Amino acid sequence: MRAAVLHEFGKPLVVEDLHCEDPRAGEVRVRLAASGVCRSDLHVLHGRSPVARLPMVLGHEGAGVVEAVGSGVAGLRVGDPVVIALYGPCGACADCRAGRIERCMGETRRNNMFGLMPDGSTRLSLGGRPVHPMVGAGTLAEATVVREAQAIAIPHGVPLDLACLAGCGVTTGVGAVLNVARVAAGSSVAVIGCGGVGLNVVQGARIAGAARIVAVDTQPGKLDLASDLGATDLVRVAADEPASRAILARVPGGVDTAFEVVGHPELVREALLSTRPGGMAVMVGAPPDGAQLAFEARQLFWDRALVGTVGGGNVPQRDIPRLMELHLRGRLDFAKLVSQRLPLARVNEAFGALEQGELARTLVVP
Ligand SMILES: NC(=O)c1ccc[n+]([C@@H]2O[C@H](COP(=O)([O-])OP(=O)(O)OC[C@H]3O[C@@H](n4cnc5c(N)ncnc54)[C@H](O)[C@@H]3O)[C@@H](O)[C@H]2O)c1
Ligand SMILES: [Zn+2]
Ligand SMILES: [Zn+2]
Repeated sequence: MRAAVLHEFGKPLVVEDLHCEDPRAGEVRVRLAASGVCRSDLHVLHGRSPVARLPMVLGHEGAGVVEAVGSGVAGLRVGDPVVIALYGPCGACADCRAGRIERCMGETRRNNMFGLMPDGSTRLSLGGRPVHPMVGAGTLAEATVVREAQAIAIPHGVPLDLACLAGCGVTTGVGAVLNVARVAAGSSVAVIGCGGVGLNVVQGARIAGAARIVAVDTQPGKLDLASDLGATDLVRVAADEPASRAILARVPGGVDTAFEVVGHPELVREALLSTRPGGMAVMVGAPPDGAQLAFEARQLFWDRALVGTVGGGNVPQRDIPRLMELHLRGRLDFAKLVSQRLPLARVNEAFGALEQGELARTLVVP
């Protein structure tokens, strides 16, 4: 089966034939229909992510159809449409038992983060050498083998080349609003960075009933999309322009909740500075390794909260079906998030487009 493999940081992906084993006990093999390309893939490509283990199949925003099941798989059957979840928790630790599976740090999860099965093996190889699927997903490929816990069944009515976005961008963005910040109806929100994830923060805020949704981006095209998806105020900034000034000009005193969805620590400070006393800033963007945050301590003193989030606090088994339901009822748009579709052979163009920044999600369709 063909997959997009990263052999060397900063170098183009190589689309090549890998050996893909049959699923073992508790695992399923999924024939992938489509995969989004997220900025977290780009962070791995450039060696800026702690989850990289080369060689690695990138991609973690995929959907497809179960084509084989290992022994003991009870919840999935061949032919089931599934979304591949962002993480594969252990299911047994205190965090998993409390339903905070994104916080799981059990050995199973730590292996999963680096593309390994619980026993440290992989199902993918090239010339006998193991190849790691990114966060256990590795969706920029024709197929992937995951543990049953990482494949979430979805209704037949949702096109797989849209549903894939629920693997990361939609669950993270909407989850940051509903699970992490618990945005209240009638409240005010600012979203700094309206790309593949930030546009879903905008949609989540609209679903939560926020009265003001201030969308901030450097790219006018992103702001047009944000407007279509529910933003009430559009702010175009230059890359070095303080977003907080523009947000405070629109919502004097500050917003209730501000989200940073780019991955730049200085914008996390801008998000915090955009909140009112008692407000909350949520860091959704993934900061580079070793990056430091700096802001005036008195900002926090005024009852403000600053929180981070992995995957928008989503519990895939709970949240992905909910997102499908919202989509089927016309309340959550997936189609507008897709700017272009490319075949796997042109996967490097998807990364080029992401780097350039003008487009929202590119889908790679094997
Ligand atoms: N917390 C998580 O679990 C999680 C999950 C997915 C992605 N991420 C991270 O979220 C971030 C966003 O990912 P994405 O896939 O949406 O990326 P993206 O490239 O699609 O979106 C980023 C957006 O930020 C805009 N931007 C860039 N500089 C800006 C600035 N100075 N001011 C305002 N806007 C600016 C870009 O124009 C773009 O629209 C990345 O850091 C990614 O790694 C985190
Ligand atoms: Zn992602
Ligand atoms: Zn656990």
